[in-house]
Amino acid sequence: MLLEGGGVLVFWYFFLKTFITCRITYLLQPTPGVYADGTVVGVREKARKLDLSNAKENVSQAYPIANPDVCKTSDLFLLTLVFSSPDNITQRDAVRRTWANQTLIQGFPVQILFIIGSTQTSAAQEALVSESERYGDVVQGHATADSSLHGPTEKTVLAIRWVITFCPLARFVLLTKESVFVNLPAIVGYLLGLHRHPEDFYLGRVIQRDSPDRDPNSPGYLPPSLYPSKYLPEYCEGAAYILSQDVVRKVYVASAEVRAPVPADVFVGLCAKKAGVAPTHSARFSGGKHIRYNACCYHYMFSSAGMGSHELDRVWTDLRQRDRKCSLLQTYYGLVACKTLTYLDKLSFFNSQEGN
Ligand SMILES: *[C@@H]1O[C@H](CO)[C@@H](O)[C@H](O)[C@H]1NC(C)=O
Ligand SMILES: *[C@@H]1O[C@H](CO)[C@@H](O)[C@H](O)[C@H]1NC(C)=O
Ligand SMILES: *[C@@H]1O[C@H](CO)[C@@H](O)[C@H](O)[C@H]1NC(C)=O
Repeated sequence: MLLEGGGVLVFWYFFLKTFITCRITYLLQPTPGVYADGTVVGVREKARKLDLSNAKENVSQAYPIANPDVCKTSDLFLLTLVFSSPDNITQRDAVRRTWANQTLIQGFPVQILFIIGSTQTSAAQEALVSESERYGDVVQGHATADSSLHGPTEKTVLAIRWVITFCPLARFVLLTKESVFVNLPAIVGYLLGLHRHPEDFYLGRVIQRDSPDRDPNSPGYLPPSLYPSKYLPEYCEGAAYILSQDVVRKVYVASAEVRAPVPADVFVGLCAKKAGVAPTHSARFSGGKHIRYNACCYHYMFSSAGMGSHELDRVWTDLRQRDRKCSLLQTYYGLVACKTLTYLDKLSFFNSQEGN
């Protein structure tokens, strides 16, 4: 009898403990209510209802090269947008024959597209058109007279508008640059491991407490009247970051109201904040940094910046040849090794600068 009573007590103790722990975890989750101010709700509602399907007809104005049928695979898992300069075909070819040369990862379709701005000459335009006909992986966005957005930012808005118009079913969109090595298998593996249905997903190397440019002589000058806060909102560094499709729509809707001469990645951060989307940090993105090559380190990292075409070839060939899994211990040593080497590179970089 006594024993039984004790058992019941122990049961209630653990039941309550579990219940309370769950409540606390639940309370710590960011619920939409946290962001419930008028504009955020408005942006999210507009994003849900946004329909650009009739914009398809007018597409040739904004997109001289549109490749509207690229996303015919309706179950596209990850669409990668590689921002590239019109004349850098050498680098695009290097990307094509290395990390971008995959269409299926763990059975999930992936697609890579180059996002390119306006060309300077008609010869360059012809070259780009024939490159597009050959590979079918180019989208050219044409800058309009809307001068309130500048170069890279406008290109980003054009790119996400293209996604909403022609690729509205891609689950995730990765935005990156031609100078970046992207580890697609690691990224897809990570995305597949997410437990909850990912909405409001904005993942990258998060930059915190970055100050706005307050130099009146700089082209990126952000006057306090336009942006009074001391710090910029948290944003994902622009070398590589991932948005879920709903965030693509939310950022696009918010972009109509954000007018600030900031870099494209900061701009996306401002738009995300307006839509009540907070970025999630992953240190597996290197941000703007180049990571010194080590096979197990590159196996684990999501991205490494500052890659020329030869470096891409070298890294890819080596990763292909090894093509084996790294153990946890090997990954650990790999990370320590490439972190140390990257740190030393930075030191020698500063030393050589001082020497000049
Ligand atoms: C297409 O472009 C024309 C002229 O710029 C404009 O008047 C029209 O509203 C556009 N249509 C759509 C569906 O965007
Ligand atoms: C992509 O890889 C395949 C082998 O996996 C190869 O045959 C093909 O030539 C590669 N494509 C490019 C553009 O290098
Ligand atoms: C092409 O891109 C690579 C990587 O960003 C860069 O190192 C190279 O200088 C670029 N070349 C041209 C012609 O723009």
